[in-house]
Amino acid sequence: MRILAIETSCDETAAAVVEDGRRILSSVVASQMATHGKYGGVVPELASREHLRAIVPVTRLALEQAGTSFDDLSAIAVTEGPGLVGSLLVGITYAKSICFARNLPLIGVNHIEGHIHAVILESREAPVELPAVALVVSGGHTHLFEVREGFTYRLLGRTRDDAAGEAYDKVAKLLGFGYPGGPIIDQLAPHGNPRAVKFTLAHMKGNKLDFSFSGLKTAVLRWVERRDLADEIEARRKLQNPSIEDWLRWTPQATLDMLASFQRTVIEELLRRAIASAEETGARALIVSGGVASNAGLRAAAREAHLPCPFYFPTPALSTDNAVMIAAAAFVKFRRGAFADLTLRAQANLALAD
Ligand code: KG4
Ligand code: ZN
Repeated sequence: MRILAIETSCDETAAAVVEDGRRILSSVVASQMATHGKYGGVVPELASREHLRAIVPVTRLALEQAGTSFDDLSAIAVTEGPGLVGSLLVGITYAKSICFARNLPLIGVNHIEGHIHAVILESREAPVELPAVALVVSGGHTHLFEVREGFTYRLLGRTRDDAAGEAYDKVAKLLGFGYPGGPIIDQLAPHGNPRAVKFTLAHMKGNKLDFSFSGLKTAVLRWVERRDLADEIEARRKLQNPSIEDWLRWTPQATLDMLASFQRTVIEELLRRAIASAEETGARALIVSGGVASNAGLRAAAREAHLPCPFYFPTPALSTDNAVMIAAAAFVKFRRGAFADLTLRAQANLALAD
């Protein structure tokens, strides 16, 4: 049973072939980092254009690497949302046209469910036990879900403003670092003192499992405004294809300390609520997924924390956007017979659960 999955929700064009929901035959990811990097964030119009360019070669390569042709496929899966409409449409239109031409069933997949299934797929040795709590943290989302038997979901908490990855990207941009900022700050953080700056976060009313990162972002902005950092920021902005050593050379200790403190604060916020969710729901596993799940500081903190249940992170390649995770989520829908038809639409704000 082979599924070809296509993922174009944001700024990576990805295709993968997965057998029986678990064996990865191929995974191709074409990143648009070079296109968006100079703007410090994803430019939607450019993203759609790049997807249009990449979708056919990326899909062909995925089939070729899997030693598979369209005739060997059981279904085509595609991300239907959430994401950028223009980007989603490229994948959806292409997937539909293959299904129409080859008479294959179509499966629409929620991108966030894909991130959760990246972990399920990789946990074959010691399978994730349900019910589980899933923390999905990326540039677009920061959500806590209860994952129940049969893969139904309940929303436990979410960010009220910025996503965690977005906070990383905005702080990096403010300080003259490249895009995406998460991996850069993650690599710089061990060079600073995580206790140097105390960021006090506003106390939130309402759901205790909700997140908020805009206050932290503003606190960093104030920290920067109180100092004269114009020269160091300008120097970093001018660096061409910098390595981590280059960033380090142009970043004084005080800024490294602030970045380390920022990262510590984000990690504490994420883990505190993930642990509370697991305790509250009696979860038997904690899943962390999405781009920010590749954060080394977060992984180390999870290892050291007293977690009420085993926890699972995806390998770095399956943390950020990819199509393997879409195929893995589609497999469950395939077995259930949950197929889409050619009226499948792109849904920018598609929710996994209310
Ligand atoms: O899942 P993803 O590839 O795309 C979205 O669905 O958003 O996540 C990308 C996000 C970016 O905001 C990026 O800065 C962040 O994940 N990210 C990280 C790390 N690697 C990627 N954030 C913190 N630490 C990292 N190591
Ligand atoms: Zn994602």
